Amino acid sequence: MGNPQEKEVSRMIERTLVLVKPDGVQRGLIGSIISRFEQRGLKVVGMKMVWIDERFSKKHYAAHVGKKMYPMLEKFITSAPVVAMAVEGIHAVELVRKIVGSTEPKSAPIGTIRGDYAHVCYEYADLKQISVKNLVHASGNKEEADQEVGLWFSETELYEYESAHDRHVL
Ligand code: CDP
Ligand code: MG
Repeated sequence: MGNPQEKEVSRMIERTLVLVKPDGVQRGLIGSIISRFEQRGLKVVGMKMVWIDERFSKKHYAAHVGKKMYPMLEKFITSAPVVAMAVEGIHAVELVRKIVGSTEPKSAPIGTIRGDYAHVCYEYADLKQISVKNLVHASGNKEEADQEVGLWFSETELYEYESAHDRHVL
């Protein structure tokens, strides 16, 4: 593990947090959403269903607390359980965001999770005074990913194991 090349390689392998939000769970899309990451060759290294409370929401969405939209976001994310996953792969943070698509489902490209399974727009959500239901949360950058994986998973809930991807994808 000591040589510089191996260090460079291990820096490329990232872990990021994915949540199937309450709308994804309630619509029965857990399996379809997880498949999107599996089919791209990403490895699920931790997974659980959690029904978070207001306190935990404020930790997870710390960057958004205080914004006008936050109360609606908190109501949404605490309205039913979520499925939390730690996902691992080469440059996983950026790749997962690409698979998920942009925040507003209306503008999310076809082929992304938000672009294929939702269509709501900001204007509609604002008028209805609700959060944008966009099925998935994914960490926005490497720092956010490290912090969020640490918030949702303890060390003992994260696994290192060999998968077919190690041999045939990587
Ligand atoms: O989830 P993502 O990182 O793409 O977006 P964000 O800017 O971090 O916002 C977090 C979540 O707040 C979004 O996924 C939406 O569910 C919600 N949101 C909203 O309801 N209305 C907005 N104008 C912006 C975000
Ligand atoms: Mg975000």
